[in-house]
Amino acid sequence: MRIKAATAVEKGVLEIRELELGEPRQGEVLVKLAACGICHTDTSTLNLVVPSPLPMVLGHEGVGIVEKAGPGVQSLQPGDHVILSFPSCGNCPSCRSGKPYACDTSSELFFNGIYQSGGTRIKDDEGRDVGSLFGQGSFADHCIVSERSAVKVDPEVDMKPLCSLACGAQTGAGAVLNLMKPTPGDSVAVFGCGAVGMSAIMAAKLAGCSTIIGVDAVPSRLDMALECGATHVINGKEVPDIAAEILRLTGGRGTNFALESSGAAALVPPMLNGLAKEGLAVIVSFAGDVELNMSMIFVGSCRTLAGTVEGAAEPQTFIPKLVQFYKEGRFPVDKLAAYYPFDQIHQAFADSASGKSIKPILLFE
Ligand SMILES: NC(=O)c1ccc[n+]([C@@H]2O[C@H](COP(=O)([O-])OP(=O)(O)OC[C@H]3O[C@@H](n4cnc5c(N)ncnc54)[C@H](O)[C@@H]3O)[C@@H](O)[C@H]2O)c1
Ligand SMILES: [Zn+2]
Ligand SMILES: [Zn+2]
Repeated sequence: MRIKAATAVEKGVLEIRELELGEPRQGEVLVKLAACGICHTDTSTLNLVVPSPLPMVLGHEGVGIVEKAGPGVQSLQPGDHVILSFPSCGNCPSCRSGKPYACDTSSELFFNGIYQSGGTRIKDDEGRDVGSLFGQGSFADHCIVSERSAVKVDPEVDMKPLCSLACGAQTGAGAVLNLMKPTPGDSVAVFGCGAVGMSAIMAAKLAGCSTIIGVDAVPSRLDMALECGATHVINGKEVPDIAAEILRLTGGRGTNFALESSGAAALVPPMLNGLAKEGLAVIVSFAGDVELNMSMIFVGSCRTLAGTVEGAAEPQTFIPKLVQFYKEGRFPVDKLAAYYPFDQIHQAFADSASGKSIKPILLFE
């Protein structure tokens, strides 16, 4: 079928193109998209921060309705409302032990544009293969995904504000609830108050943390961090010694947990130095290189630094929990949403980069 899809055609160049989408294969579904969020990882892929073969249709936070189920699909049928999350193979030791975020093939399935059963599903008018980011490519009116990635949701819920549950919100909330696992009264510092960081702040509040510190450089984002549950905020561009400020705010102890979701390598040392003894820092961004005095930072303080993909979440069980928290008003991701018609995608990217829109959401109808 013919689709209109925002396609990364070369480094930094995104164009809406008419392309030919094939049929869903074994275990795959065709989804008519209602909306798709823009995550910073779309920008990183477009700019080849993560090396990926182009052309590729970007978009990995789609929500929509199943239009057609391919052969062997068991859990979904046409008409089902779905949030489209990340792909995984289902067969490796991690997948088989319920940890699809640590799938042996996640790098290929996320960034090579291909599907688990092989190949791409899209061709351009010259007959060339076009990839689909995250085995999804949901900056388009229709896409094909594995049923493993598609999480069925209650049709009564308006899914449009929930796009970020597919990736950004799942990652921030999962980093807190699945990895940090704070107990009531604990403290958390969140570096970078984008959709990932804001979701971590909401999750920290949900988990009963007493001190929640948001760090960003955009004043409107710091205001929103306070609205989402931060007890304190730090403007990283104005405060010269962020670690000292975190120590001051925590009575000299530092925070039990910290999250790096800014993508700024310079924030990693203050994040680690602001951690309490036995503190755990989680990094989700592509922050790049930074020099660390490892023995000074880690040994005497017994601290840990962990990386994670998608907040160590198993989407089929974690996303429904987040939807339930949202319905209860305890995970208000709709506060982060800014809506754009699909053809204003470039404006949406620009507003994300400038800090104006926290979670731009493209609408397809
Ligand atoms: N590991 C994963 O599975 C996963 C999943 C989703 C997103 N990510 C990554 O997480 C990061 C966050 O994603 P997002 O969509 O929330 O991005 P975003 O761009 O919306 O948010 C980043 C925030 O960091 C702030 N920031 C950047 N540099 C700063 C500095 N020097 N000082 C203070 N604040 C600074 C920005 O103002 C912005 O608010 C990205 O790197 C993204 O690629 C990783
Ligand atoms: Zn796997
Ligand atoms: Zn993402």
